Amino acid sequence: MERLDKFLSVRSGMSRKEAQKRIKSGEVTVNSEVCRAADFKVNPGTDAVALRGQAVCADEHIYIMLNKPAGVVSATEDRHDRTVLDILPPELRRKGLFPAGRLDKDTEGLLIITDDGDFAHRMLSPKKHVEKRYIAQIDGEITEDMIRAFERGITFADGTECQPARLEIVPNSGGMSGIVTICEGKYHQVKKMFSVVGRKVVHLQRISIGNLYLDSNLPIGNAKKLTKLDIDAIFVGNIH
Ligand code: URA
Repeated sequence: MERLDKFLSVRSGMSRKEAQKRIKSGEVTVNSEVCRAADFKVNPGTDAVALRGQAVCADEHIYIMLNKPAGVVSATEDRHDRTVLDILPPELRRKGLFPAGRLDKDTEGLLIITDDGDFAHRMLSPKKHVEKRYIAQIDGEITEDMIRAFERGITFADGTECQPARLEIVPNSGGMSGIVTICEGKYHQVKKMFSVVGRKVVHLQRISIGNLYLDSNLPIGNAKKLTKLDIDAIFVGNIH
């Protein structure tokens, strides 16, 4: 059982004080009845809490798919730029959200935002071998030599070794776009890998993490809540 004001503040991202104010003013219902007692005990598993008629999600954790646009940073706060949290719609906001992994400011596509640290760790650990797939548009043609170099494992100028990666040419792209599959998340990894083979990435988009694919109906800059099934897909076929 959980206090109503705590339940509301944790799940909606508002402060405890703000939650208490909303409860006192009669904006909150529990099982369709107005409840004005901040210390009322709710059962998150069975009680339906609503704020101004909008159901407040009772799940312990939330998982959000964002189709990240270019120009926002993968951080919880930033002095200069808008962050991926700033562009979430109010109904998906809550306390403790963070991006599970980073995309560069100019990279677009699939980003998961959550408040579940254990899940993020599981997804991001290179030991778990969760494949991340990117479409990279580059400034020249992809050659067989490059595909083999990715397969062997690229070494950066500073000696950092990458694990073997898959590089496939996107059909009908004139050889100028590739799908890159990696299991790691080194800083600027895809751009640096192409740089080692003499190519510059001009556009980068992440299209999948494990078996979870970017929803092609989700416009750039939009977000949606993921189901448990979506989240499980990330680890499907992953034996680690
Ligand atoms: N690799 C990059 O270079 N940038 C990203 O944003 C993600 C992977």
